Order: sequence, then structure tokens, then C-alpha cells
Amino acid sequence: MNDILEILQTENFSRENLVRLLKTNPPDQEILFAKAARVKELYSGNKVYLRGLIEFSNVCRKDCYYCGIRKSNQKVERYNLTGRQILDAARYAAEKRFGSLVLQSGESKGKAFTKRISTLLKKIHQKTNNTLQITLSCGEQTAETYKEWFENGAKRYLLRIETSNQSLYRKLHPENHSFSERVNCLYDLKKYGYQVGTGVMIGLPFQTIVDLAGDLLWMQQFDVDMVGMGPYLEHADTPLFAERDRVLPLKDRFELSLKMIAILRVMMKDINLAASTAMQAADKLGREKAIKVGANVFMPNITPGVYRDQYKLYENKPCTEETPEDCLSCISVRIGLTGNEVALGEWGDSIHYYSR
Ligand code: 5AD
Ligand code: FES
Repeated sequence: MNDILEILQTENFSRENLVRLLKTNPPDQEILFAKAARVKELYSGNKVYLRGLIEFSNVCRKDCYYCGIRKSNQKVERYNLTGRQILDAARYAAEKRFGSLVLQSGESKGKAFTKRISTLLKKIHQKTNNTLQITLSCGEQTAETYKEWFENGAKRYLLRIETSNQSLYRKLHPENHSFSERVNCLYDLKKYGYQVGTGVMIGLPFQTIVDLAGDLLWMQQFDVDMVGMGPYLEHADTPLFAERDRVLPLKDRFELSLKMIAILRVMMKDINLAASTAMQAADKLGREKAIKVGANVFMPNITPGVYRDQYKLYENKPCTEETPEDCLSCISVRIGLTGNEVALGEWGDSIHYYSR
């Protein structure tokens, strides 16, 4: 039997076998992609769930070496949406029957911030008649804060581990950013009952295929409910830009990301897997391609237009000029092209979370 087929059929996802899967090229690669598509179809049918993404602030207390909105980047104009602007965007998502919202920001901490989010959560649920499931993506927080937000109606949380290799994590972050604190946060989130999402960047400087295989195993072992991952994309105003000659060509980083998505779909059949914006930044049809190999979540950006351009984690971020209306019609067409359909009005909770 063909090696790749055998690994997929026996589901023997050892580190060595994951490396082999990550190294596949056509035609073997097609075996992997076809298997992932079948698994997606079996578990989510031809549905793709929407999450309206609101990037409500680019103020960040952290200084990750790869990220365009890091604290030390003085070239970024900082913004913070008003409660009214956030509520308007949430109402828009409810009217368009998106089913769910993601509130994302740079990392801020403290009582005032915690309270602000709690108030927002309550107001959004009230003004949209509890029709939206809310995901938060606001970085590392204390256990009490996570608990308070859960009690106020956030049911999902995204916090990427970025890489499961601790020494690589060290190279990508300043001294005071701690891998173990990040992991602890993920366990706290799980403890309080969130559907927990994580993810990694693919094709980072110094990252190896073995690291990526380790990332897949880490996510499986942590037993995540949701994953968002995509290629690392350079940003000229960040320290990691100095290592730009060490990264794979963008096309290869993109291909590797597609394989990561497809493999994880086969490993974790019932999780929610996002077709990330970074996929589209790397390839014009990146999100469609991701859906075809197993992603079942699409996150249209509904941040008010003027601010979209200021939430630049990386360069060539797509759709910064689009209005939400343009975005919505574009999305239906794009998802339709993949042979899937948009699951309007559905929360699209992680099946994995409920089957645990
Ligand atoms: N390239 C790709 N992804 C990035 N992120 C941050 N900076 C970059 C970059 N330069 C991702 C991180 C973070 C998420 C919000 O965006 O994984 O967790
Ligand atoms: Fe903001 Fe990394 S730079 S969390």
C-alpha cells in the first residue's frame, strides 16, 4: 500500500509519520487533501460557519518580535473602538445572521479593562437577544478575569500557543513573555468551561518540520476545541524582519499551512478549524483552499472600515478597504465556490467540546 495512504488509514500519527505527511508533495499530497475533505464533509457536512471579527483595539502591552501591533512599534496609530461602535458591529452581525462574534484586541490588563469587556458582553447579548455566541481573543489574563468573562456570556476563547517548541518560543518573544504562563492560561480557560481555541504560526524563522509535527501533537494532547493557524508573514516594523532571509518562500509557507490544516482535520475530526485571514494574505484563494482541505470556519472582518488598516499584525492584510456589505457578498460567493454553503443563523459550536 502507498505509505501516505497507510498512515491515514491506520491513523498512526507518530511524530515521524506526521513529518512524512508534512513533507508530501503531489500526487501523494492529494491523498491527504482528499481524506481531510471527506472527514470535514462527514462531520460538518458542506457547512461553513461564520464569525464576525471585531478588532476592537490595537493597543498592546506585549512586544512579540513578529507582530505589527507590538508595543514598541511607534509607527502604528493606536485606536480603541467606542462601546457604541462595537455594539453597532455586533448588531450588524446579528442582523445578517452570522451566528457568532469574535472580539479581538491587543493585550490589555487591569480592572478597568476586565470590567469594560464584562459590560460589553452583557450589552451585546441584551441588544442582540442572545442570538450571537461570543468568542473573546484578548490575550493572557488572570483566572479571575477569565471566570468573570465566562459568567458574563463569553463561551469561547482564542489564545494561540504560537509554537509548542519552548526554545523557539523564547526566540520569538522578549524575556518577560512566558511560554508556561501561556499554557497555564489555556488550562484556566478549559477549567472555566470555555470552548478553547489555539493555534500556531507556520514557516517561522528557525522553525523546523519536526517543530510543526510537535505542534500538531501538542494540540491533540491538549485536546483543543478550535484551531486557527496560518503562515507567518513578515512585517517590516518588527525585530523578526531581520531574519527574513531565513524563511521559506511564501508559497511554501502557504502549502505547508494547507497540509497542517488537512492533517489536523484528520487527527481531530470534530474540532472547529478556521480558514484564517493569514491564509488569504499569502494566497488570493487561500481561505477557499483551506476550506477545501478541512477548514469549516470563516471569519469575516466587521471592524469599522477606518480602523481595519490599523490592525496590521502583518503586511498585505487583505480586505482592509472593503465595507462589511461588500465583505458579506464576497464571502457567500467565495464559500459557494468551494461547494460549501454558509451556515447562517447557526452558532456552530465545536462538536468536539460537547463530545468530551
Ligand atoms: N504573521 C502571521 N501571523 C501573525 N500573528 C501575529 N503576527 C503575525 C505575523 N507576523 C498571529 C499570531 C496571533 C494572532 C492574533 O495573529 O498567531 O496569535
Ligand atoms: Fe501584542 Fe504579541 S504583540 S500580544
